[in-house]
Amino acid sequence: MTTIPQQRRTLTTTTGAAYSRIWGVGGYRPERVVTNEEICEHIDSSDQWIRERSGIITRRFAAADETVVDMAAAAAHEALRSAGLTASQISTVIVATVTHPYQTPGAAPIVAERIGATSAVAFDISAACAGYCHGIALANDMVRGGSATFVLVIGVEKLSDFTDKTDRGSAFIFGDGAGASIVGPSDVPGIGPTVWGSDGSKWKTISQRHSWIDVRDGDVDWPAITMEGPEVFRWAVWAMAPIAQAALDQAGIKAEDLDAFIPHQANMRIIDSLVKKLKLPDHVAVARDIAETGNTSAASIPLATQRMLDSGEAPHGGLALQIGFGAGLVYAAQVVVLP
Ligand code: UT7
Repeated sequence: MTTIPQQRRTLTTTTGAAYSRIWGVGGYRPERVVTNEEICEHIDSSDQWIRERSGIITRRFAAADETVVDMAAAAAHEALRSAGLTASQISTVIVATVTHPYQTPGAAPIVAERIGATSAVAFDISAACAGYCHGIALANDMVRGGSATFVLVIGVEKLSDFTDKTDRGSAFIFGDGAGASIVGPSDVPGIGPTVWGSDGSKWKTISQRHSWIDVRDGDVDWPAITMEGPEVFRWAVWAMAPIAQAALDQAGIKAEDLDAFIPHQANMRIIDSLVKKLKLPDHVAVARDIAETGNTSAASIPLATQRMLDSGEAPHGGLALQIGFGAGLVYAAQVVVLP
């Protein structure tokens, strides 16, 4: 047993808000709409196959000179507007991304500077398609622990830069975009417990083809992100339903209490399977943004949330279950009150 040595002084620590909630959500979708026909110029596939197997009809690709930072800043401005806050009130910027093309520095400090949240705490996290839900978990704990007041959480990807457009297993699935939300103090609970974890034994199932060291030393192609689709599909369908259910249970919420289900937009068939396994009643609105946006990894959940709120599909102040899962493999789920 370890004994803690007697201290001459007691440390002063921070305490934060009783609870936290999401104050506002924003999104940015690049202008260019890319059809399945255009994708099929580079792979042996068809519009029909892509629609049936993934549910994707179109996706957006960013312009060549449009960066992860540009898209993140655009989504951040929308989130600030929606929350009724100014950038100077943001104490922390968390950017979840796997496609910022610099190993260092992270995108977050540049985004913070760009939007006017100068001197904010700013860092990136790499949790792929679960990155946004990881960011919400961190933000909730920071606000409640007293190390932050308002946290800007951004999920952003420019996957078109990291996709092999000739790879039949992944070229049709990914898209570009950014989604953001702001987590701040609340008198009532607005973010339920996060159920999260990882399975590193499956790291190879979604990965860049080569490391940067291979690129430097070897005669290798651009290290595009590729995926062992069927294996990831099976994992998502079988392992994620219990995680989503645990997030409901830990929040003390039943499926019938939900207003919306906002899973990572990976594949329409995965979404359908989760809806069935969770026995969600018909009144629960289900995010199906993948049809027009594709799989935007860390951006997919906030983008889908923004679409559902803007279209009136999900009510402001309603209860939503969100779950992110992907490369790592990693996952995170929580019930949130929609702003
Ligand atoms: O975002 C992070 C997490 N990612 C995911 O959750 C994605 C999970 N995986 C998936 O969504 C699916 O695995 C894909 C959509 C990527 C692929 O769908 P699938 O139903 O798993 O296809 P498959 O690889 O099992 O292939 C089925 C058939 C095969 O033909 P045979 O052997 O049955 O004759 C493939 O050769 O479809 C063929 N196929 C294609 N056909 C036309 C594979 N890719 C294509 C293609 N176009 N692009």
